[in-house]
Amino acid sequence: MVNIVVVNRAGEESQVAADEGLSLMEVIRDNGFDELLALCGGCCSCATCHVFVDPSFNDKLSPRSEDEEDLLDSSDHKTEQSRLSCQIEVTPELEGLKVTIAPED
Ligand code: FES
Repeated sequence: MVNIVVVNRAGEESQVAADEGLSLMEVIRDNGFDELLALCGGCCSCATCHVFVDPSFNDKLSPRSEDEEDLLDSSDHKTEQSRLSCQIEVTPELEGLKVTIAPED
């Protein structure tokens, strides 16, 4: 299990235990964060799984794909730390990662 800290839109932090191999989106959704809609189910076509990742983990994450980049461009809330959580696989390197659910577009 990998410990991840999730910050909801109200700014409340919760620690969740994530199974390796799942996507970050699945972990957030399965832990009851209904505000992460993940409407497309993880096939990188909706951008409703938008999160901001802790900058100290930038070098541990795979780079954004072109599709992910395009979808994030459609968000009014895109920042340097924006990612689609369905495109991030939980690995042991992510122990302690903090992710914040982005505001709704
Ligand atoms: S769940 Fe739709 S893009 Fe991530």
